[in-house]
Amino acid sequence: VGTGTELAELERKLARVELPSAPVAYREYLRYLFSEILPHTANTRSPRCLGHMTGPVPEFLWDVMLLIGALNQNLAKREASMVFTALERQTVATLHRLAYQFDPEYYQSVVHDERSSCGIVTSGGTLANLTALWIARNHAFPTRSGFAGVEAAGLSQALRSQECADTVIVGSAAMHYSVDKSAGLLGLGEAGVRKVPVDGSLRIDVSELRRILREISARGVRVIAVIGVAGNTDAGSIDRLDAVADAAAECGAWFHVDAAWGAPLLFSARERHKLAGLQRADSITVDGHKQMCLPIGASVLLLKDRYSAAVIEKQSRYMLQENSGDLGMRSLEGSRPASALLFHAGLHVIGPSGYEQIMDTHLDKARLLAARIQRRPEFQLLIEPETNIVLYRYVPRLLRGRSLSAGDYAYINAYNEAIQRAQSAAGRSFVSRTTIYPGAHRGNGDAKPVVALRAVLVNPKTTEADLDTVLDDQVRIALELENRFRPEAEPAMV
Ligand SMILES: Cc1ncc(COP(=O)(O)O)c(C=O)c1O
Repeated sequence: VGTGTELAELERKLARVELPSAPVAYREYLRYLFSEILPHTANTRSPRCLGHMTGPVPEFLWDVMLLIGALNQNLAKREASMVFTALERQTVATLHRLAYQFDPEYYQSVVHDERSSCGIVTSGGTLANLTALWIARNHAFPTRSGFAGVEAAGLSQALRSQECADTVIVGSAAMHYSVDKSAGLLGLGEAGVRKVPVDGSLRIDVSELRRILREISARGVRVIAVIGVAGNTDAGSIDRLDAVADAAAECGAWFHVDAAWGAPLLFSARERHKLAGLQRADSITVDGHKQMCLPIGASVLLLKDRYSAAVIEKQSRYMLQENSGDLGMRSLEGSRPASALLFHAGLHVIGPSGYEQIMDTHLDKARLLAARIQRRPEFQLLIEPETNIVLYRYVPRLLRGRSLSAGDYAYINAYNEAIQRAQSAAGRSFVSRTTIYPGAHRGNGDAKPVVALRAVLVNPKTTEADLDTVLDDQVRIALELENRFRPEAEPAMV
């Protein structure tokens, strides 16, 4: 998974900032890359690398990446991309159909109609979420007589135009932090994100959501968007989207679903029921570079209504004129690569049946790992996985099967942090780490933080034996650390 080289040592080697005095031959440059840089990358292809939401990229997509770089098409402008503009529109419409299942005739009328948009290709889920909330904000404060719309007039005039005290985005406490970034950029500030408590599986607590929405509207605050998460970053669990859609509809807010992680469950006949209600979303974030095996840089925001992106359209003197068909009119990014080709290639070469197999296999593996964890006395499964992320922790021998004090919690947390760090540094296997607050959903304001080991199953080549290796490594590391982490040493660690 890694070479075990100390990061500090790598940073020391890369501390010189003078510009190169003279060009070097490309062959020489390659020699430098291969000897000094490449050996120290994180090996995301390793079947024992279970920490990241981005997995190994199949080799045919390396060629596609090369093509994208070599052709250097610019999707902001049709003249600079030609057929790729049409291919992007086709690919986005195909993904739209996968999610929304409109009639085939709808897609024939929309696919190359330049006034319409099935969605916007972005370089990541962050920008897809930001774009969704940008569109939602502009729909919440549209142009009307005496008011030019929030995009032109800004947020303070927008609030005055509707006589609202404030405006917020509402979603679960387990939302991705890109929503906070978006709120900052859109002028709401992080204070403009109202976070609803989650249940024991980190899904939004729908009755709390309804209560909060009632409280917000009673205060004269305008809700820009209600967000459902289809696969949260910590645990991969999925909000009950139908119920969230109902709540959004009741308060007349835009319903956005962040399905950066979970959208590919749509390919699985067995699993797609978990996304019930997704088709009610006004917008959906899909990350190709998470569960669709695409290289980083491939995401899309799907838009239910063909004209909903009109509220963010921009024109300029030198391009993006009306009827130009330039996709740059409706994207936050300017010059933009032909990343849609990655989706297109994945959909053809891996294909829907391939993605179905990949998703089913990954979810099976997560269940298998969860079962292994439950069978081993050293570990505690923290959340039953709903998709392919497994949260668990190591429990030291002396504390197994006992009720735990606050000190015990802090002690186990420090122990698990140390295990995760040591495993990562050793380089043989890897899981990541997060912190959850079990019990907080039951109104327990004193819910204690629990450090969780986080295994993300996105590598088709990970075998059962690899899963055992990851757990065995953790037990071995835990035993090595045992002397340092004795309960009596607790005050030093907390
Ligand atoms: C649920 C969710 N949404 C959005 C994002 C942001 O995606 P990106 O890293 O592609 O910007 C992530 C990333 O982990 C995520 O897990």
